Amino acid sequence: MKTLLKIENITKRFGGIVALKNVDLEISQGEIVGLIGPNGSGKTTLINVISGVYKPEAGRILFNGHDITRKSPEDICRLGVGRTFQIAQSFPSLTVRENVKAGYIFGKVGKKDSSREVERGVDEIIEYVGLSGKSDTPAKDLTVVELKRLELARALATRPALLLLDEIFTGLNVAQINEAISLVRRIREGGMTIMLIEHNMRIVMNLCERVVVLHFGEKIAEGRPEEITRMEAVVRAYLGEKYT
Ligand SMILES: Nc1ncnc2c1ncn2[C@@H]1O[C@H](COP(=O)(O)OP(=O)(O)OP(=O)(O)O)[C@@H](O)[C@H]1O
Ligand SMILES: [Mg+2]
Repeated sequence: MKTLLKIENITKRFGGIVALKNVDLEISQGEIVGLIGPNGSGKTTLINVISGVYKPEAGRILFNGHDITRKSPEDICRLGVGRTFQIAQSFPSLTVRENVKAGYIFGKVGKKDSSREVERGVDEIIEYVGLSGKSDTPAKDLTVVELKRLELARALATRPALLLLDEIFTGLNVAQINEAISLVRRIREGGMTIMLIEHNMRIVMNLCERVVVLHFGEKIAEGRPEEITRMEAVVRAYLGEKYT
């Protein structure tokens, strides 16, 4: 499979904290990759570095063959990297439709869509994530579950080739988790490549074909989910604390 994202030797520091240390990672087109690790291990930082929010001190990131290491978040988004935020970032006073439209238009800059095409595209995405009845509701009046779906809709609206999801399942009950798992699978079937950060190992085992484990900013393991759960280093660094 074609490599979509190639991360080479990335280091990111915050003052004295080394949030990412010499991280290498490749993601192939069409994969669903899980990113796991203890709190503070650098997972969100990795998404922030890929999406251009932070610039790394060392290393290189190639997306679709382009070197995006020093590009702005706007340019990286337009090249086809979409993301959600661990803490929802929707505009609170705008409605669901307006929030999704903002993402849609942003991702389409330079491309000519008639306003009717925009409306149709936006409504399709809202329906896709199951928010149809809420199009005219301001984001601030949504439940936590609905806000997560809006975050996802906003990321999808930019039409990414690579979608980075930061803990989108948190706060959901079992039925809602199952719905969200099917939604992520459908998104991938639609042609997107996905990397997701998730603490719930049932979700990771269910959804991911490959798992990458961070520990104090270093990649300590990588492999199929069933391999990962058997690796002693992973159990010691992360899984042990969850299951004992
Ligand atoms: N903007 C920042 N300024 C200073 N330190 C930061 C900043 N962002 C992250 N860090 C630090 O970098 C380290 C990695 O944080 P990060 O948020 O990437 O962890 P995480 O794996 O996403 O954790 P969690 O599972 O709790 O979300 C932590 O020590 C954190 O305090
Ligand atoms: Mg995080």
